[in-house]
Amino acid sequence: RRSNVTKEQIRPHTLVQQLPRAIIIGVRKGGTRALLEMLNLHPAVVKASQEIHFFDNDKNYARGIEWYREKMPFSFPHQITIEKSPAYFITEEVPERIFKMNSSIKLLIIVREPITRAVSDYTQVLEGKERKNKTYHKFEKLAVDSNTCEVNTKYKAVRTSIYTKHLERWLKYFPVEQFHVVDGDRLITDPLPELQLVEHFLNLPSRISQYNLYFNITRGFYCLRFNFVFSKCLAGSKGRIHPEVDSAVVTKLQKFFHPFNQKFYQITGRTFSWP
Ligand code: A3P
Repeated sequence: RRSNVTKEQIRPHTLVQQLPRAIIIGVRKGGTRALLEMLNLHPAVVKASQEIHFFDNDKNYARGIEWYREKMPFSFPHQITIEKSPAYFITEEVPERIFKMNSSIKLLIIVREPITRAVSDYTQVLEGKERKNKTYHKFEKLAVDSNTCEVNTKYKAVRTSIYTKHLERWLKYFPVEQFHVVDGDRLITDPLPELQLVEHFLNLPSRISQYNLYFNITRGFYCLRFNFVFSKCLAGSKGRIHPEVDSAVVTKLQKFFHPFNQKFYQITGRTFSWP
């Protein structure tokens, strides 16, 4: 006799698909994947594995909030769901849309020193071009306007690193207390203290420990240990080798980013030792 028990009945009835109570909104190449995977080590956190691109993609957004909820993993009611879509941070319409869903949502932004982030962004695009056997400009050519010799603010990798400009758009909707800034450079070298700050921000008991993170020498990065059988490192596409950038261009970019960085520190209350 064929069983007519449905999957729905087998699944404990307490499991539900919950809208995220926290979102990693960016920044692209800041370490958004590492942050999400590491937070997922916490027993009260459940991650949406894929980038959902609900709020930045008009077609997805038009599908409505129930479509978004159905993209979420099953979780127990006491757990919090987190998703990450780094395009949210830089997309004009997103703050208002997220505000309409949940005006008290917690927002995580992971940043790196802006030039490192821009070069990382460039390296990812370059790799995509090379895969298609296409040639691509050097970073220096894209980052500096050859006519004016000024920093090219039309270049997306430069624009994305002007963190304060994007954050200021978000602040039209959310108070600054609803954001937590994660130091993406420290997440690489010493992840635990950064994760503990996030646990605190999310009002979670501190449960991620040194045991859950081990430095893998071959990989050159921290990897994740869930228990004594299961551990994993991030995919090889995380942690690319960056090209060397001409030092005069680096200096020019440092001067360019300096005032924006100062403003970002002032607004967020988190100071970094970026040059
Ligand atoms: P690089 O490729 O420039 O080194 P995102 O997930 O937002 O795309 O960020 C990718 C960056 O995450 C990588 O940038 C890498 O340095 C960083 N990262 C942080 N912690 C990592 C980890 N434990 N394993 C691999 N990459 C990590």
